[in-house]
Amino acid sequence: MPLNPSHTSWCLRTPGSCYVVAVEVDAQTGEATVLQKYWGPPLATDAARQVVGLTRGPSTPDGAGRHVTSFAEPVEIEELLPVTGGRRWGPAALEVSFGAVRSVELEFLSAKADDERLDLSLADRHFPLEVVLSFQIRPDGDVIERWVTIRNTALPDSDLSDITVTRFHSGSWFLPDADDYRYTGVVGAWAEEFQLRRGPLPVGELTYTSRQGITGHQSNPWIMIDAGTATETEGAVFGLALAWSGSWRLTATRRPEGGVAVAAGFGHEGLRWPLPAGAELVSPRMLGLYCEGGFGAASRAWHDYTRAFVLPASDEVRPVLYNSWEATGFTATAQGQLSLARTAAALGAELFVVDDGWFARRDDATSSLGDWWPHPERFPDGLGVLFEEIRALGMRVGLWVEPESVSPDSELYRAHPDWVLRMDHRRHDTKRDQLVLNFARPEVRDWALDWLSRLVAELGIDYLKWDVNRPFTQPGWPERSADQDLLWIDHTRNVYRVMDILRARRPALRIETCSGGGGRVDLGVLHHVDQAWPSDNTDAKDRQTAQHGFSQLYPAAVMGAWVTDSPNPNTQRDMPLRYRFHVAMAGVLGIGADIGRWTPEELTEARSLIDAYKQIRRTVQHGRQYRLGGIPGAERSAVQYILGDEVAVLVYNPLGNAKSGPRRLKLAGLDPDATYEVVAGGSATSVHGRLSHRSRWYGSVLMSAGVRPAAWEPIGADYRSDLVVLHRIPTP
Ligand code: DGJ
Repeated sequence: MPLNPSHTSWCLRTPGSCYVVAVEVDAQTGEATVLQKYWGPPLATDAARQVVGLTRGPSTPDGAGRHVTSFAEPVEIEELLPVTGGRRWGPAALEVSFGAVRSVELEFLSAKADDERLDLSLADRHFPLEVVLSFQIRPDGDVIERWVTIRNTALPDSDLSDITVTRFHSGSWFLPDADDYRYTGVVGAWAEEFQLRRGPLPVGELTYTSRQGITGHQSNPWIMIDAGTATETEGAVFGLALAWSGSWRLTATRRPEGGVAVAAGFGHEGLRWPLPAGAELVSPRMLGLYCEGGFGAASRAWHDYTRAFVLPASDEVRPVLYNSWEATGFTATAQGQLSLARTAAALGAELFVVDDGWFARRDDATSSLGDWWPHPERFPDGLGVLFEEIRALGMRVGLWVEPESVSPDSELYRAHPDWVLRMDHRRHDTKRDQLVLNFARPEVRDWALDWLSRLVAELGIDYLKWDVNRPFTQPGWPERSADQDLLWIDHTRNVYRVMDILRARRPALRIETCSGGGGRVDLGVLHHVDQAWPSDNTDAKDRQTAQHGFSQLYPAAVMGAWVTDSPNPNTQRDMPLRYRFHVAMAGVLGIGADIGRWTPEELTEARSLIDAYKQIRRTVQHGRQYRLGGIPGAERSAVQYILGDEVAVLVYNPLGNAKSGPRRLKLAGLDPDATYEVVAGGSATSVHGRLSHRSRWYGSVLMSAGVRPAAWEPIGADYRSDLVVLHRIPTP
């Protein structure tokens, strides 16, 4: 990995990319800057050496090829960790004050490199601050991980030990020069998460952020940047993502004279983290991906990375679950759940999840969070008997919990009013009638771990749906006023920690992340959970839009998707059962409907659709996903998955009479010379050019000429859909 004998430049190589960094030391001042010299397609070693000399750092007079004036130089955005102070005006990634001195001047200490990891150690030239920039690459993937560790190396009684951190990003990534830049990201709101946005990257600073203590519904911590010309199938795309589930900030800076950098990190503006002598702070990982092959290939690279290096139990096939929330809301009873469970089991569900309303006096949203024992009237025999009966039906058992929240009307709050986020002399604002427990407090973390461990062990729980239904307000910790802002970090870390210990104590336990829908989905929490709930909006048309945005970064294996009732409780939209199933089959299929009210015909159809999903779910959850075009939910569209010889294609047509949208379905990622046979789905009648049952096609024809799926025929009802399964025929 080192590019020169003096070990001041390095090349991180992945199969499809190369990332060159160098430390430059100012000959006069001795100040060191770590610069990104190159990020892009693979380079031979000599070529990588050449790029080290191509650009110069901010302290050199030619200002990296730009016209140098006292206003334009330096080009701090090419630094991997722009620090506060010196000749820099861009957004700092590390902002530190040493008493009254608000400026960091680093010198280079050492480098440690092996095939997959590089650590560059630097230290302030005067104050006791050590900074380590770390890089990691993973076998067979193009995602590069970066993070930063800072340490106060002073002895406790040193005069210099006063260090306060006010911004601590995981680093900054520089994008190569291009004629133009375009960003892609997702934004949204409750019940409207993961709305894809793509547009010109403006000169200035574009910031996505959450100041809510959770990842948030409004944006998600990733961005992709291209030169404005990439398509779903072609072009270079740079992607950056932050693996963190609390407050965060991601800023893309585009300078007027050229150059784009993206920095991200935990926390938001205004926070102060004292770093006492001996203390250390480690940033979350920020991930970068350079990819050719357009947005589709970029998504597949993120999916592969997530499955291989993020998810804790990624080789599994996720069960079909039933969740009672939309059926019973806050009125769940033991009898009612059992009755739903019998129907769910008969349909083929494999996991039954009792949602909210099972505990204490939880008859609506106004009480009982924190009192995690069964509702005495609605579950008079507790949950044990019910869960035994559910297990006897052949299903695993799951339970909804919201460990970070407390209702003011609860025994927990009456006993421990000091456990919530709060500030002296300030209101305790509730949202959804609840307050936030300060999970950064060790006693709160231990309390949660204790009751959750007991519940999981006593009931043999296989699955927890871990929800959180409100952002932080009055985010104070009066007993720790000087370093109270650590709660923004430690709350999240303790959530992760409790999840991990629960898993370690019961290895069979699986966890779903939920925050009023998709408020906590990110590559941080996915290290600790198995699947995510993307949105409380279960309308299949809206869901297609959200799933499209979700799929840009996250794989189908984590995307929970329920079939719910029609008309949909959120939107009142009517939609055929088959369409609702086909939309939910694009991820981890679940049922969230009031199935006790379904007709025998609906139950029969649902059973066969669940069965069909089970045939293809390994391909959906573990295969490579191709978005085949069309605006999902608005016009004809399709999504395809390939695993080995199996190809599953979900085809949608929401507006039967629409004239716009793709006409012929073109598959992707196939072997052009192989023959594929339609083994399920497709139209029953064979018409020329039609994707019909048992028809056989060359991969090249399926990919280049395209075929006509029955669901896309131009005249017909709204909301037609199909699941078409093809198998590659082995060559003799
Ligand atoms: C919000 C979740 O997103 C829903 O699925 C449900 O679990 C409710 N909370 C329960 O309060």
